[in-house]
Amino acid sequence: MKILAIETSCDDTGIAVLQRKNNRFAVRSNIVSSQAIHQNYGGVFPMMAKREHQKNLVPVLTQALREAKLLQPLSIKKEIGKKELLTIKKILAKEEHLLPLVVDFLQTYKKPLVDSLAVTYGPGLEPCLWVGINFARVLSFYWDIPLIPVNHIEAHILVNFLNRPEVTFPALALVVSGGHTQLILMKKIGAYEIIGETRDDAAGECFDKAAKILGLGYPGGPIISNIASQITQSPILLPRPMISSHDYDFSFSGLKTAVLYKVRETSEKERKSKDFIANMCFAVQDSIIDVLLKKTFAAAKNYNIKIPTAKPSKILDSKAIGTIILGGGVSANQELKKQFTATTKENNLALLYPESKLSTDNGLMIAVAAYFRPKKIAWQKLSANANLRT
Ligand code: KG4
Ligand code: ZN
Repeated sequence: MKILAIETSCDDTGIAVLQRKNNRFAVRSNIVSSQAIHQNYGGVFPMMAKREHQKNLVPVLTQALREAKLLQPLSIKKEIGKKELLTIKKILAKEEHLLPLVVDFLQTYKKPLVDSLAVTYGPGLEPCLWVGINFARVLSFYWDIPLIPVNHIEAHILVNFLNRPEVTFPALALVVSGGHTQLILMKKIGAYEIIGETRDDAAGECFDKAAKILGLGYPGGPIISNIASQITQSPILLPRPMISSHDYDFSFSGLKTAVLYKVRETSEKERKSKDFIANMCFAVQDSIIDVLLKKTFAAAKNYNIKIPTAKPSKILDSKAIGTIILGGGVSANQELKKQFTATTKENNLALLYPESKLSTDNGLMIAVAAYFRPKKIAWQKLSANANLRT
């Protein structure tokens, strides 16, 4: 069984082919094209990202199918029938740059041997979601392959199940990305309860905005993390918003403002010094991780995350009594993983996180989620839901 999955909810164009055979997954391909254009602006402009997705989708699909050994050229180009072309044009009425590329692709290559198509339908940037959805709708229509809509946040969690079918429940998931910061109680695959979330900026957004204030590039997370790793402590202490609040919500916009004030009160010369930048990067990362860690483990304790009835062989670590799951771009952060690993051990819990390239947006996480949640939908019925909740 093979799934072809498409992800375009933000600024990464991702397409993957996942195969399930003999009760095991085989990743046939996972291609991501990250849009460099946003580096100049310190953030993502949805309409600019939409245009880039339109340019990238067909080349990324071609590469993903080629790597999966599923790309087969037709012996001669095949014209698309008039009626079918009309439907394709209707579907892509708002994606005028994508239309000629798709038409050429469909005329050049055979229908690939895949059983279903999966696509992110939310949450995310609406124009970006629509490009991926309309692309998937055209493929579903023309190739007559069923379509599975996927929730992006759920995919950030379920990518952890790629090689770990033995996870036992309940588990506590922390999803930290550029758009979301959510603590999710997971009773089983498909049964989720959001127990806390950010009231303003997301953790990744805070990394990105702090990097912008410090005159560093985009995305800010990897840059700040890289610079912070060069030192082991910082004389600057930034606030830890809501760390002691009696709930599991987060707030990161105050931290961003504190970074701005700190920069403003520092002389121009010092502001640009290597030491100041390194100290600030360390302090920002330290504050974000501290808040995420304290809240997650307080929730694990209060929600009694443990698996009293599971057989030891079913538990990831035989001594562990519960599972914490990390997902989303910020979970690529090395220091965050280090601190979560140490604290889960201390608390006798197990920890799952994706390998770094599967933490940030990619098509494979959409394929894994589609495998576990195969709710098919007719292509005519699928639409974007930018504010979709888990
Ligand atoms: O999940 P993701 O790829 O896209 C969204 O769904 O938003 O997350 C992107 C976010 C960005 O804010 C980026 O700065 C952050 O993840 N990020 C990191 C790291 N790598 C990516 N944050 C901290 N440390 C990292 N190594
Ligand atoms: Zn994401």
